Amino acid sequence: MTKIDYRKILEDIKPTESEKKKVKALSDYLINFINKKAGDEEIYAEAVLVGSVAKETWLSRGPGSDTADVDIFIKFPLNTPLDYLKKNGIYLGQECIRNMEGRHEFRYASHPYITGIINGYEIDFVPCYDIEKSKQLKSAVDRTIPHTIYVQDNLKKEQIDEVILLKGFMESVGTYGSEFKVGGFAGYLCELLILHYGTFQEVLEAASEEWKPGYMIDLRKYGTASNFDEPLVVVDPVDPKRNVAAALSLQKMSEFMVASRNFLQEQSSTYFYPREIPADLKTIKEELEKRGTKTLILSFKTPDIPADALYPQIKKTEKSMMHLAEREGFKTQGSDSWTDEKEKVLILLEFDVWMLPKIMKHYGPPVWSHTHQQKFLDKYKNKTWVHGDKWVAEVGRDFTDVQLLLEAALSENKIGLLKFGKHIKKEILEEHQLIDLMEFLESETTQKDVLEFLYKYLHKNWSLWRT
Ligand code: UTP
Ligand code: MN
Repeated sequence: MTKIDYRKILEDIKPTESEKKKVKALSDYLINFINKKAGDEEIYAEAVLVGSVAKETWLSRGPGSDTADVDIFIKFPLNTPLDYLKKNGIYLGQECIRNMEGRHEFRYASHPYITGIINGYEIDFVPCYDIEKSKQLKSAVDRTIPHTIYVQDNLKKEQIDEVILLKGFMESVGTYGSEFKVGGFAGYLCELLILHYGTFQEVLEAASEEWKPGYMIDLRKYGTASNFDEPLVVVDPVDPKRNVAAALSLQKMSEFMVASRNFLQEQSSTYFYPREIPADLKTIKEELEKRGTKTLILSFKTPDIPADALYPQIKKTEKSMMHLAEREGFKTQGSDSWTDEKEKVLILLEFDVWMLPKIMKHYGPPVWSHTHQQKFLDKYKNKTWVHGDKWVAEVGRDFTDVQLLLEAALSENKIGLLKFGKHIKKEILEEHQLIDLMEFLESETTQKDVLEFLYKYLHKNWSLWRT
């Protein structure tokens, strides 16, 4: 077994001193600008640096890439009216971005914030309340300043490298990020895991040997862990009422456990770098053909809503279509979905059984139930017989082909059969395409990212293994 050269890996994924200086200089400049502007215009607010840049725990994505996301929070006194906070917080961010001739984009978390692209960096400007105790909390973003201070006070200098290794590993195996797209581990959660276990190695050992759903970590021994029912519970050191791992899905928790086990066995440094997906049209077609299943693909335009609203709506639609097919007697093999977040959404549905006979058996009341049986017999007349002590009727099936069923369900008058987010419903009713995946692959010059999505569907958990 070869020993991993962590120094070499850190050279690749940890920001260099010059990168750090550059980011810090820029954020200092932006913060000073906002604070001066606030002073000049008598806005009671103060900008502070938070997030991974303030903690020096950000992941450098390759040499020369300025991909740090800088989090600047603009804090207002607790007695500030919410309208004032929103309006002036956004205003200060906007002025700051304009001053730097950056591009801006409005976004929404629990409340609005503004993002600017300045000198290639993505800078979030988030207005929040300046709280001292978690009891004073007015919105979810108010915890971020206390989080930053907690990590700065408790994470030892040498543990910064451990956090970066953990984030790099998580990113590469596909479990990093608490946004809905991933449902994985947030940056702050990675930091707390290192604080709890000590090192990268120890986090992975615990995950692969000790963890199971319901596992609890309570760094400050608040004793509130049992109040949560998510798969992993990590009580927030700055708020006993918050589970920092609330956004972590059972799926991603399990994937991380498996990836940890694989890594500890394989000891390969490839677990810290992106893995090339060998997606090519010809092989994908061949692999699909071999499966002998039927795969449909629904495509429609991406509604213009934030990513964290978009992904849950797509998932809901996907699940609902699969349920409808099962309810009507078809058998599903699996499903997945993908979006470029700007132009199109794809929902993939794979079937074991996609054609059904014209008739089906429909069970009725027992033969000894006098009131119910008359209704049943009146309804089905001479198409009934007795099986055991029950009446059975032969009835026709509305849909013998799953594609026709789903196509009908996607039309105006039958749309009630499906559940989806309202923005998606609107796009689908306006325009959509539901076709066989093979046909889809013939007709389109399929983009690389779509092929990668299909490859990952055919090779599930592709990123959890290396050799
Ligand atoms: P980020 O998502 O930017 O995290 O949220 P980060 O710590 O800066 O890590 P990077 O950017 O991925 O390197 C900024 C802050 O918001 C809070 C945390 O305090 C985090 O540091 N936050 C964010 C959470 O508490 N939970 C979340 O799910 C997301
Ligand atoms: Mn960040």
